Amino acid sequence: MPQGLNDSPRYDRLKSYEWNFENAPTESPQVDIPTREGLWTYCGLPINSPLGIAAGPLLNGNWVRYYASLEFDVLTYKTVRSRPRECYELPNLLPVHADMMSGDEDHVSASDEWQGSWAVSFGMPSKAPEFWMEDVRQTKEKLSAGQILIVSVVGTMQPGWGIEELANDYAVCAKKAFESKADCVEMNFSCPNVCSEDGQLFQSPEEAELVAKTVRRTVDSTSPLLVKIGHLQDVAILVELLCRLDKVVNAIVTTNSVASQVTESDGSILFDGQQRGICGRATRDASIQQVAQCRSIIEKQNLNLDVIGVGGIESADHVQQYLNAGASSVQLATAPMIDPNIGIEIRKSLIAKQKDSGS
Ligand SMILES: Cc1cc2nc3c(=O)[nH]c(=O)nc-3n(C[C@H](O)[C@H](O)[C@H](O)COP(=O)(O)O)c2cc1C
Repeated sequence: MPQGLNDSPRYDRLKSYEWNFENAPTESPQVDIPTREGLWTYCGLPINSPLGIAAGPLLNGNWVRYYASLEFDVLTYKTVRSRPRECYELPNLLPVHADMMSGDEDHVSASDEWQGSWAVSFGMPSKAPEFWMEDVRQTKEKLSAGQILIVSVVGTMQPGWGIEELANDYAVCAKKAFESKADCVEMNFSCPNVCSEDGQLFQSPEEAELVAKTVRRTVDSTSPLLVKIGHLQDVAILVELLCRLDKVVNAIVTTNSVASQVTESDGSILFDGQQRGICGRATRDASIQQVAQCRSIIEKQNLNLDVIGVGGIESADHVQQYLNAGASSVQLATAPMIDPNIGIEIRKSLIAKQKDSGS
């Protein structure tokens, strides 16, 4: 893991999720806020820049406030549930060797050195709603104008439940998030390290539609709803998914990660052979391609969905590549965990580019 990029506090991957939860930065750095560089919106809400933090790095309100002070304007509260859930054991973040992935890989191998990508293995832990609702409420009050708070939610399958009960559980979470004054709710339909249905909904368009419609019926018809999806190899499934989600939700967030088995350097299989989501640099090309596919489907089918791009963003050029592919804004997870100041650098660079182009 790189050391010494700067002294800003950051997530310590060698320590537990709980430790990182408790040791969130409590002081926000004073940063010269660059001027607003355009008119950006997120599901119709005005935002200062297209830069967001994806579901993951922001474990609680202190982490949200920290990154809000570091030039990120769309802050996603890490996925919460209707009931408490423990985190998986360490390693939760395991660096891997990976060139640009296509999704066809049998496996990727663990790496002793940081190469921009890691296997993510948390299992979507959550505090009880009583905790996160109050935390969301307090956090929302502290954000500035032009910054918004998204709450990522997931349903929790219980023994004996079917898809309808799972859908109701998603709806309970979404309702609670909006009651806590979240600006938007992002429904996580993809978590490669959770094998049950709640982790794989994006691969079943019919079930995804049922869940999304159940949530939509439960919340206000104007409340912004987003769906986060994983990497799909089969474009026909992506077409069906977008068509079924059209007019039910406002936006698609893509891509959660590229799923793969992970091996040690000697070839032995890690995580009991289960797949893990690979996040970071190695997923950028596949994710930009999926954004472009979504945009093309939306145009051909005349759908009314925004696309939010996420996966492997490390620079202003990468942001621009996502915007060119049809994303209306972007989210980052891995890069700002490694270098918390990356948002400031990207903002400066985006503003400089705009001045150069005279727009
Ligand atoms: C530490 C970490 C935790 C994550 N947890 C979640 C999560 O709880 N819910 C979710 O939808 N995605 C989660 N993700 C996936 C990210 O939201 C994002 O889709 C993915 O990391 C790709 O972006 P990146 O390449 O910038 O990291 C997590 C990613 C990381 C790195």
